[in-house]
Amino acid sequence: MLTGRDILTTRQFTREELSAILGTAEGFESALRERKALKNLENLVVASLFFEPSTRTRLSFETAALRLSGRVVSVSEAGGSSMAKGESLADTIRTVDGYADIIVVRHPQKGAAQAAADNASHPVINAGDGTGQHPTQALLDLYTILKEKGRLSGLTLTLLGDLKNGRTVHSLSYLMALYGNRMILVSPPSLAMPPEIVAEARAAGTEVVEIPDVEAAVAESDIIYVTRVQRERFADPAEYESVKGSYVVDMRLIARAKPGVTVMHPLPRVDEIATEVDEYEGAAYFRQAHNGLPVRMALLALVSGRI
Ligand code: NCD
Repeated sequence: MLTGRDILTTRQFTREELSAILGTAEGFESALRERKALKNLENLVVASLFFEPSTRTRLSFETAALRLSGRVVSVSEAGGSSMAKGESLADTIRTVDGYADIIVVRHPQKGAAQAAADNASHPVINAGDGTGQHPTQALLDLYTILKEKGRLSGLTLTLLGDLKNGRTVHSLSYLMALYGNRMILVSPPSLAMPPEIVAEARAAGTEVVEIPDVEAAVAESDIIYVTRVQRERFADPAEYESVKGSYVVDMRLIARAKPGVTVMHPLPRVDEIATEVDEYEGAAYFRQAHNGLPVRMALLALVSGRI
């Protein structure tokens, strides 16, 4: 059902498609555990174009292709391709489209993934477009919620941090709304969730409340989803300095939270989650990062039609 399709935004998915992705990811997770040899991407080449820093997204996509017997060509920094010589994204994509069967792209500009898709005949997967969307992260977040909580609806989720610039929360809030959940938004006032995203979640029937007090929020949350202040999106370093460190999740906060609360974070963390929380059994962020592998295997297999 996703064969030949681009993956650009979480807004494109129906619940039926999401179930297919999560189910396929589960199958790949067991196959990985059993060390099965997988050939889904045999003779296919995946181009991995990262014009912004990345550890998890790039390496898990490339590992996903390799685990499925595909091959990978990659650009891992903006200075490493002819974009540094002034080539446009459109020309770069038109070129790569002639080499590879699937194009994964991360770019600092919002809308860049759509622009890439407009210039490619092969499927384009958005691995993060500026402050826009990060749909594959939201899919692995959804998979993580299902595994940690055993369900995808009827949950109260607190989104904490830089909700203005964080693309992962923009993508995730749409999916959570689709399944009928309650969202609490906690951020410094200057980093609030864009109103159109709040409006969209409400229009989908989700209750969204903004509360400034993190302790009150965690007391009624099943999940706390923490994000980093997105330093690279600030034009003025002084503004970054004034908001960084304005929230920290530590064991003192967990003690005030609903028992069994799950702590998620797309990573990288800077200092918004104290390392003491790593020992807490509800700290799911490294399990979450590992879930990126089967979920991205599922996406590559589905868009290539090799399933
Ligand atoms: C996120 C991103 O790049 O948007 N990282 C990731 O892909 N796991 C979050 C971030 O950079 O803060």
